Amino acid sequence: MINDFKPTVSAVSSAVEKVDADALVLGVAKGPEGPILLPNPLADKAARGVADSLQALGASGAADQLLRLPGVDGFKSETLVLIGVGPLTGEPDGGVSLEALRRAAGAAVRQLSSADSVALALPAATVDQVTAVAEGAALGAYSFPHFKSSEEARSKTPVAHIAVLTELKDKHTKPALGRAAVVADAVRAVRDLVNTPPSHLYPESFAEIVKTQSKTTKLKVKVWDEKDLEKDGFGGLLGVGSGSSRKPRLVRVEYSPAKPIAHIALVGKGITFDSGGLSLKPANAMVTMKLDMAGAATAYAVVRAAAELNLPVKVTSWLCLAENMPSDTAQRPEDVITIYGGKTVEVLNTDAEGRLVMADGLVAASEEHPDAIIDIATLTGAQMIALGVRTVGVMGNDDLRDDLVEASQDAGESHWAMPIPEEARSGFDSEVADLTNTADRFGGMLNAAAFLREFVGDRADADPKALDADAKRIPWAHIDLAGPAFNEKAPYGYTPKGGTGVSVRTLLTYLEGVRRA
Ligand code: BES
Ligand code: MN
Ligand code: ZN
Repeated sequence: MINDFKPTVSAVSSAVEKVDADALVLGVAKGPEGPILLPNPLADKAARGVADSLQALGASGAADQLLRLPGVDGFKSETLVLIGVGPLTGEPDGGVSLEALRRAAGAAVRQLSSADSVALALPAATVDQVTAVAEGAALGAYSFPHFKSSEEARSKTPVAHIAVLTELKDKHTKPALGRAAVVADAVRAVRDLVNTPPSHLYPESFAEIVKTQSKTTKLKVKVWDEKDLEKDGFGGLLGVGSGSSRKPRLVRVEYSPAKPIAHIALVGKGITFDSGGLSLKPANAMVTMKLDMAGAATAYAVVRAAAELNLPVKVTSWLCLAENMPSDTAQRPEDVITIYGGKTVEVLNTDAEGRLVMADGLVAASEEHPDAIIDIATLTGAQMIALGVRTVGVMGNDDLRDDLVEASQDAGESHWAMPIPEEARSGFDSEVADLTNTADRFGGMLNAAAFLREFVGDRADADPKALDADAKRIPWAHIDLAGPAFNEKAPYGYTPKGGTGVSVRTLLTYLEGVRRA
């Protein structure tokens, strides 16, 4: 069920005494000798009342800690709120990182969900700080009540009006706030799609949502239904989807500005539910498997945001949508399928389905010879073994991989470069087909990347006689966000339980940094 809720985020430059919000938020950091109230000149007066009593109030400055102080003198807002920002990092302005500000703003707005309006008096002396506070706050304003039966529960919205207190002029903050709103909308769109139960989100309904939402935009959408997939030979999507009465779809979403400086293709894994197929998952491992379309949701949200931001880069997103179910029509272990373009795969484990649908998508994306291909997939449980549930793995061509990791640092997300070892490819050698779909369990995330790489096409200008296969290929990177796409634990910062929308900010930051080839 797709939210139409959007918080409004505005910059306010009047002193806090005049701001009339349900809650006024000040930041407290963990200093070397105890809690420190973070400066915001517009909230001077309110700050003076509490600065000396932080310790007595129990404010530690620990990230996410929220304290409410009702009825403090000297300002209009009903409640003064202290939000913990975490340790000082010694950064130049204000001593806290932009990501710490983002998280603090998000944690405050998330925990103040019963308020309608919140004013944030966090450090906001630079445009970057204002953007971070605005972005974090908009990310924290999230809920997913659509499947509650009571009207009351469904109509309760998160904080709807957010004011960022800053002395900066409108002409500086306006573009920053506009960008923050687009970015946060994109992240929230991914969360909604991921959180929507598989009873309601399946390949056909996912494709319909994309078509409907794109009607009034600059996006062009093309959908392959099961007959089209058959006609064009998309054997990966058809093989994986064959066990389900919900038929697979391939969706291509294009944003094409006038005179683009580059063309980037995004390929997303869109398994709307992964039961494992005949290689059935145990019951407990199936819970959360509605998340398995997070890559496709990300590819969609990013192309949509790229269009809203009028980026000078052409972006084509390929959503590889299928439901992986067991049945008498399901693909079997030992079946051989033919991926789009002709390569054959011996399916030894039907639970390694993501790489099969992604193979179709990578070949299709390659046919248009984009300048780079980035795929996004909740591909392996091994990702979580390697990097945990908050750090996304990035593999592929060294340069593109490192650019993405750098973009993630700028965006405040945790992505980590991982290798594709030389020996990984041979693990997929098959007796009967070109490749099998499973290799060694050890290094499972890296092996999966080696499999995907086989389906990345050559650049338009590649010398057909050149021997180095890697040098001929279109620059490609693979993002495995199996763990980080879904937060099963308590919410923190701006991250709710359930779908997180991770990697959206990294990809948008990357696209904003693309230069003419
Ligand atoms: N969708 C899963 C990966 C996954 C697992 C995502 C847990 C999020 C949380 C994927 O399709 C899968 O089942 N992978 C198998 C591959 C194996 C059979 C080679 C895995 O990781 O166990
Ligand atoms: Mn699987
Ligand atoms: Zn899967």
